[in-house]
Amino acid sequence: MAHVVTQARGFTLWLTGLSGAGKSTLATAVGHELRRRGVRVEVLDGDEVRQNLSKGLGFTREDRDTNIRRIGYVAKLLTRNGVVVITAAISPYRAVRDEVRREIGAFVEVYVKASLDECVRRDTKGLYRRALAGEIPQFTGVSDPYEEPLRPELVIDTEREVVGESAARVVDRLVELGYVREAADA
Ligand code: ADX
Repeated sequence: MAHVVTQARGFTLWLTGLSGAGKSTLATAVGHELRRRGVRVEVLDGDEVRQNLSKGLGFTREDRDTNIRRIGYVAKLLTRNGVVVITAAISPYRAVRDEVRREIGAFVEVYVKASLDECVRRDTKGLYRRALAGEIPQFTGVSDPYEEPLRPELVIDTEREVVGESAARVVDRLVELGYVREAADA
């Protein structure tokens, strides 16, 4: 008989990385994988958050930090109620990432890594071309900083593996960290 294991506790899976590195794609894939195992998941995607919760915010350091604190706040509320939260925002600044980590507690940071050259090559939204032409100021990686995590729980290199492999590696790491139990037969 199929035996789906229910989750023991909530936690936040915090994806960080350049625009176009693959955060949203990975969030969707991991969300799917966890739901399949009977886990309740909410994805807080940067683009979606900026259309409602963070509407009106720009891309100065102050506005980005505000955006991250808002995402962190919602993630904290959900996490403490047993939900698994997956966030997918660039979150370029280490200090505020560490701040939300402290706030949330049950926090798993994943660096979704792709080189700037690769992100420019993909240019999924056509924004790098405009940023490189000087049409978008303070564009992360081009004219604004991205601070790599120093000790993330996991690094996913999206230039070297396909999304299915990456999602499986994330779930393996979550099992290893004790946040998710191995599905007996999911
Ligand atoms: S964050 O820095 O505050 O974490 P967030 O993930 O919410 O950023 O939003 C990033 C998305 O906004 C990018 O994927 C891109 O589509 C868009 N964007 C528009 N302007 C910028 C900019 N100056 N820098 C980075 N992303 C930008």
